[in-house]
Amino acid sequence: MKVLAIETTCDETAAAVVESGPRVLSDVVFSQVAEHAPYGGVVPEIASRSHVEQLTAVIEDALQRSGLEPNQLDAVAVAHRPGLIGALMVGVTTAKALAWAWDLPLIGVNHLEAHLESAALGGQDITGPCIGVVLSGGHTDMYRVDGDGNSRWLGGTRDDAIGEAFDKVSAVLGLGYPGGPAVEKAALEGDGSAVKLPRTLLADDSLDFSFSGIKTAVLYSWRGANAAHPGRAPDAPEPEDICASFQQAVFDVIAEKIRRACRQESLNTVLLGGGVTANAALREGLADRLGDEIELLFPPLRFATDNAAMIGALALRRLAKGERDSLELVAEAQP
Ligand code: KG4
Ligand code: ZN
Repeated sequence: MKVLAIETTCDETAAAVVESGPRVLSDVVFSQVAEHAPYGGVVPEIASRSHVEQLTAVIEDALQRSGLEPNQLDAVAVAHRPGLIGALMVGVTTAKALAWAWDLPLIGVNHLEAHLESAALGGQDITGPCIGVVLSGGHTDMYRVDGDGNSRWLGGTRDDAIGEAFDKVSAVLGLGYPGGPAVEKAALEGDGSAVKLPRTLLADDSLDFSFSGIKTAVLYSWRGANAAHPGRAPDAPEPEDICASFQQAVFDVIAEKIRRACRQESLNTVLLGGGVTANAALREGLADRLGDEIELLFPPLRFATDNAAMIGALALRRLAKGERDSLELVAEAQP
């Protein structure tokens, strides 16, 4: 089976053709980063308009690269939740129109569940029960994932998402947008034990996260207590040391939450996904902290950040089970 998949939940306009396996036949991502960079974050209205401008060309490109004609497809899939509502509507409306015009089944996919499918695109076997961890710009969530596609939410962030914390740290230090890659790069030159930052673990058995405390601590370390200085305080640490110390602190927290989830659910396999898993230091840092007892399954780097191939992979799984949606499918901002 082969699906055309569409992704427009946030600021990447993406389309892919994926075959059962899953095998990626084509994968096109148009990043809007340059359009949002002047504002230091994603501007929803700009995102929606940009999707409208780019999506048709992105889909045509994905189809052409796959070497397939529409009549060789088995379904059209689209990420229909969660995300920016205007952005989602562009993808959903386009997917519905194509499904109707080509007389193909339509499959709506949850973007967060799809992030947890992206490790399968690297050939990883993700069919057994495991702990699923989504580390993205908008979400930080843990699930118990059972191989049959069912999942149960275990906990999530009470304030900022992990990727958002990276982006805000980068903004405070003036390292630019998007912040994740900038913080990772700066941290390579820094000392991770140079700046004392809090690790918020909440109650002993809590599987929730909180990153607002560390974000404020970074702000104060840079601009002085209560952010008294308009810019860098005279005695502020080096930005590289702040970035490295920030990463060490958040890796400690994520490792501890994974340890707890594995213990509580009696599982030792962890499936990770989301833009922050593109961070090489995070991959190494979690593996070092969790040792051989816990197996970590990461997506291939190119499928860590938003893409349509992961949407296609999850849609194929649903298609194989006989699931499909009607043309009544709607975009939903919430998961
Ligand atoms: O999954 P994603 O592409 O979009 C959402 O679903 O939100 O994640 C985007 C987030 C951004 O916050 C970005 O700064 C972060 O992932 N990110 C990273 C890295 N690459 C992207 N964070 C840390 N290190 C990276 N290398
Ligand atoms: Zn995402």
